[in-house]
Amino acid sequence: MTSNDANETRGVIGRASRPGVTAVVEAHLLVLKGKPMRSAISETLAKHSKLGGNDRRFVAFATRELSRHQRLLDLAAKARGRAPSSLKLPEDQAIFRYALWRKELTGASVEAVMAEVGLPGPVRPRSMADAVIKEALSKDVVLDFGDDPIERAAAKHSFPNWMAKAIAEQAPAGELDAVLAALNREPFLTMRVRPNGTRETLLPELIAAGYPVQSCPELPDAIRLNDEGRAIFESRWMKEGRLLVMDLGSQLLADLCRAAPGQTVVDYCAGAGGKTIFLADAVGPNGRVYAHDTSAKRLVEAKERAAQLKLRHISFPKEPRLDLADLALVDAPCSGVGTLAREPDQKWKLTKEKVLEFQKKQLEILDAVVAGLKPGGVIVYGTCSLLRDENDAVVEQFLAKHPECRLDGEPLRVWPNRIDGGGFFGARLVKQ
Ligand SMILES: C[S@@+](CC[C@H](N)C(=O)[O-])C[C@H]1O[C@@H](n2cnc3c(N)ncnc32)[C@H](O)[C@@H]1O
Repeated sequence: MTSNDANETRGVIGRASRPGVTAVVEAHLLVLKGKPMRSAISETLAKHSKLGGNDRRFVAFATRELSRHQRLLDLAAKARGRAPSSLKLPEDQAIFRYALWRKELTGASVEAVMAEVGLPGPVRPRSMADAVIKEALSKDVVLDFGDDPIERAAAKHSFPNWMAKAIAEQAPAGELDAVLAALNREPFLTMRVRPNGTRETLLPELIAAGYPVQSCPELPDAIRLNDEGRAIFESRWMKEGRLLVMDLGSQLLADLCRAAPGQTVVDYCAGAGGKTIFLADAVGPNGRVYAHDTSAKRLVEAKERAAQLKLRHISFPKEPRLDLADLALVDAPCSGVGTLAREPDQKWKLTKEKVLEFQKKQLEILDAVVAGLKPGGVIVYGTCSLLRDENDAVVEQFLAKHPECRLDGEPLRVWPNRIDGGGFFGARLVKQ
């Protein structure tokens, strides 16, 4: 491919070994069969239990990369006369996609790629001979992305055209390319330091212990790990609950609640409780957080975390107790377009119709919440989407239906090219 096709990547993570590459191809095949990215990676890593830490990091990274750049890689395959539809087996498609990714997007030599994918292995059956792969890789091709600027960006950054168009509707002027590129970058591990206000004392301890961490200027308690090779999950700070993993965008959304000591808050879509703990820390022991979710399974994790951290002011009542709340956070189920960096397979699974189904659900949830809330109560509506249909359009439709409510301030818009923390939206809605 020519240099103008080059995609920004954050460098290769981990190390490519032949057994590791076998695992990447197997995990990619599972994703193509419809397995969610996380399960495909964890299942494959469990099967290849002998792989070392660096191999495992490579497997997770490369598997995400193949979905992230799928469209571009298939265009590159087609330009070499080997379009995926012309290849006999899904295994051929997966191996060839991997080989193209490795050469074109990580800069590996044809020889190095062949040493990773050449027979014997990885992955059988396959019908593409080594010589065929090698010849195709060795060709120089120019990709034609067409003339339409949005479709060009979609092809270059491997997005479906409809999704790139929907993101373009909302993206800051002239930033579509940067937004799409950011959604393709491997995210940093971001954490929140507890208790609130202790970041400056904890940072030097972490640095002295060898963790490459830095403060995130956007929030007083957020820090980021610059190299995930350092296993911070095993550290005593993580075990003691002084560090909680949480995307910066997620932290900014929880911060939009402006929950204050002594307040009563309902976390209406609490899930596994990431924001529940944030809110519990903000309201303190004299406040209360009621956590609610329709998925009992997700709440189990939230309950375990609250118990571990001894946060006794979090409770999980059958009814969400909106009648008692000063504030309700609706961290709504959504398409997750803002977090495609972690779940890139969703690019190829989402449809416009699914986005509208999410919108319907989001409006239903907001209707239920506003009905239960007392006058003066605040709803913070949030998504990890960058699409108008799930963000401004929901707020507009909600306000049109509920004249008793008003928008409080400008919505929060976290653009992943501006802040390394995913793509998020949040709006404060006050019931008068
Ligand atoms: C974006 S996730 C929440 C993530 C969570 N707040 C966190 O920070 O980890 C959306 C959640 O909404 C829940 N949900 C879906 N429909 C719901 C409904 N009608 N009422 C309440 N929760 C719902 C889902 O089970 C899911 O856990």
